[in-house]
Amino acid sequence: MRATDNLVGNDAKWDNIVFLENEAIRPGPGRSRAAGCTRMLEGRRANGSVQTKMYVFDIRHTFSQPRLCAAGVAANSRPVAVAASTEARTDLRSLSVLSEIGKSLASAPELRGSLERVLEKLEEHRGIVRGAVFLLDESTSDIGVEAAVGIPAEGLRARYKVGEGVVGKVVQSGRGIVIPATSREPLVMNRAFQRRRSGSAEWSLVCVPILLERKPAGALAVDFPFNANRDYQADQQFLAVTAAMIAQSLRAHRTVEAERTRLLEENSHLRQELEQRYDLSNIVGTSGPMRQVYEQIAQVAQTNTTVLIRGESGTGKELIAHAIHYNSPRAAKPFVKVSCAALPDTLIEAELFGYERGAFTGAQQRKQGRFELADSGTIFLDEIGEIPLASQVKLLRVLQEREFERLGGTETVRVDVRLVVATNRDLEASMAERQFREDLYYRLNVFSIFVPPLRDRKPDIMLLADHFLAKYARQHRRQIRRISTPAIDMLMSYHWPGNVRELENILERAVLTCDGQVIHGHHLPPTLQTAEASGTMVHTSLSDSVEQYEKDLIVDALKSARGNRAKAARLLSTTERIIGYKVRKYGIDPGRFRGAQVVTSPPPRWRSVGR
Ligand SMILES: Nc1ncnc2c1ncn2[C@@H]1O[C@H](COP(=O)(O)OP(=O)(O)OP(=O)(O)O)[C@@H](O)[C@H]1O
Ligand SMILES: [Mg+2]
Repeated sequence: MRATDNLVGNDAKWDNIVFLENEAIRPGPGRSRAAGCTRMLEGRRANGSVQTKMYVFDIRHTFSQPRLCAAGVAANSRPVAVAASTEARTDLRSLSVLSEIGKSLASAPELRGSLERVLEKLEEHRGIVRGAVFLLDESTSDIGVEAAVGIPAEGLRARYKVGEGVVGKVVQSGRGIVIPATSREPLVMNRAFQRRRSGSAEWSLVCVPILLERKPAGALAVDFPFNANRDYQADQQFLAVTAAMIAQSLRAHRTVEAERTRLLEENSHLRQELEQRYDLSNIVGTSGPMRQVYEQIAQVAQTNTTVLIRGESGTGKELIAHAIHYNSPRAAKPFVKVSCAALPDTLIEAELFGYERGAFTGAQQRKQGRFELADSGTIFLDEIGEIPLASQVKLLRVLQEREFERLGGTETVRVDVRLVVATNRDLEASMAERQFREDLYYRLNVFSIFVPPLRDRKPDIMLLADHFLAKYARQHRRQIRRISTPAIDMLMSYHWPGNVRELENILERAVLTCDGQVIHGHHLPPTLQTAEASGTMVHTSLSDSVEQYEKDLIVDALKSARGNRAKAARLLSTTERIIGYKVRKYGIDPGRFRGAQVVTSPPPRWRSVGR
């Protein structure tokens, strides 16, 4: 039984019904229908007779207009208080619907799902029979259905141009439209749903814009069953609040989506760059030993074999580890590097195998280890010779079984990783000193690649120097064309204890200090300019060098004194006896200088012995 049925014609106290601020349903003279009354409450006495009746009407309000409400009571009640409490209750109901809408928008991870939840809430709590969220595609100016309820599958493909139909007009103008009776409105296109086919029912349509930065980004359109007494303005206002919430969610989704797209693009760009950088063709060097290295990389890259890369510091071991990964079937998967020497002993296991929450002080939450991060890719353990003995056992287990437990955990984690390790240590010596486990050594030493030191591949020096010159000239925007011949000689005769890394650093420094188009010797660091650095030093003892110097001084003085020992002794501020003794000691023949020209220049400066 509907409450209105009770009101119409059967209530003697009809005139006492109090309406608050709703002209539309105020009963005027001769008007007896209590339109919109939805409920009747009765207060009964103990004997069952009715004492009080209360008629509750449609409570029409939104947050912007909370006053549109009405209540009717029988004579002996206090209508205003009843109306106010009903209003508060309805406020609360609307609030709770909006709160549920907010939760729906926040909970679903993808936009479409959350919009569908919102429409379902409107169906459940606001009495809509169908509804859709339309979004504008700015690139095509088409408006399409993003989510819908009560609309058949073919209706989901409906498209509108801006300005076309009700939805198009709302998106064009940014203003809502209410059509109480859709059958009489030519603007209604019935593209998403054929209202005319749905029997004789009449439908009302309310469509509000979804505004982003005050610009229409779409529309929310819903159908209600036609009801002449419905307060569509209130519905429109409620939907406008819902549309504003949808807009916030849409903005958040679009921001996240834009960021995701940007990251994906950046990722694929970086991956491409990495693949190019570690392409074998980018490893410089054509010397015999390097060709052998390339052959070995080609042999092993396609397999899952563990690779041990050995060689002095700076020879390019890491570059080769990368080349193996990027030339393997795992190229599109992660390459995870762990620098064993850089991690303190206490942290290395946590880093490699991860830990569970509470495993140790400071372990606030579970953390994946590098092995887990490298799953289905390659893990590169650099400077494996530095790994502490205690961790070597655990590492051995991962190598053998490809499984481990996180620190503080019992769950066994299985991983599919390819292992590449590098070291500049003499592992055999470490083994002899019991610093490196023998079993681990044999597990690692399945396929080893030795990268030769730069001094053993002289033909590569100039290739590498040119490569780095071009690289850093480009990077620092310098127009440097070549390296001068003396500078080339210096590079070629140096013994490169720091290998390729040292050569690279020297070339970068030279590019930065060079002010012309040519790298000269003085652009190279002093280490390359000493006799020792250039390999021209003869290794003599201090006493030999001093004697050589002394002999040079005496010969020079005798030359100046035309073989006269007394005069030479005075020039050197010493005695004739000492000069005589030294002349005999060094086997100098002063007679040679009797006809010699007087040398006025100072005694010879120190110069490198043996040059
Ligand atoms: N053949 C090469 N071609 C081009 N660049 C190279 C070559 N070899 C080494 N390099 C460069 O030299 C630098 C040092 O190389 P890398 O880091 O691979 O050496 P490493 O052997 O791992 O040294 P360490 O043992 O000290 O870790 C890097 O910048 C690398 O790009
Ligand atoms: Mg390295």
